[in-house]
Amino acid sequence: MSQVVIVALGGSLMYDNGEINQEWIDSASTIISQTASKGTKIGIVVGGGHLARENIAAARKSGVTDTFDLDLVGIAATRLNAATFAAALKSVGVDVSENVPETTASATESLQNHDVVVMGGTIPGHTTDAVSINLAVDSGAERCTIVTNVDFVYDKAPQTNPDAIAFEELTLAELQSIVGPPEHRGAGPNVVIDPIGVQIAIDNSIELALLNGRELERLAKCIAGETFRGTIIGVN
Ligand code: UTP
Repeated sequence: MSQVVIVALGGSLMYDNGEINQEWIDSASTIISQTASKGTKIGIVVGGGHLARENIAAARKSGVTDTFDLDLVGIAATRLNAATFAAALKSVGVDVSENVPETTASATESLQNHDVVVMGGTIPGHTTDAVSINLAVDSGAERCTIVTNVDFVYDKAPQTNPDAIAFEELTLAELQSIVGPPEHRGAGPNVVIDPIGVQIAIDNSIELALLNGRELERLAKCIAGETFRGTIIGVN
């Protein structure tokens, strides 16, 4: 396959104060269309964001306590967001696969025939970060980039710790010491990069990167394979 870029687009980017962030969706689609037209294959895994949070909270209020069942609600949200993002890409002329694949194997197959594939979650027990890292493994990509709403990986949550230290470079082992062991922490918002995904990256020598996707020029540089502001997490 030609050069493959794999990105996890955090669902938080698709929403702003609980509303669909139309401006971001349209700008991000245009950025992706520019690189896709140059022959790079792009695999995109979209997260659940506000839609997942609201619906998981509603299921909890209805008395659902089983993580598996809550995860299913989250997966449905990621797939709806993926369908919306795929439709936006199609409208700007991108050759994107018609259906939202439900496995990374079928997404990899779709990438053989299309410039871009957009998917959401797969099975309960992890998040779309882990899905995107699995997609990188399946499609033969060397790196998977987590596009989120923080600038860097920090030693602790920057939202609540003003003294948090930002890292521009880390190794996968150092990242694992920050995010912790590969366990599913339950449905809903979690640590900066899913620890289950980090373990998959370690096992398969996949380099990770993280950037703030609200800064569109960083997203553009990442998709185009250029140097961008964010954290690079090397294999060693
Ligand atoms: P996200 O990938 O959006 O995870 O999936 P997140 O970490 O909660 O959200 P962000 O990245 O911080 O915005 C939403 C939820 O859907 C379920 C999990 O419950 C996850 O928390 N999910 C998602 C799965 O169970 N399996 C998947 O493959 C994807």
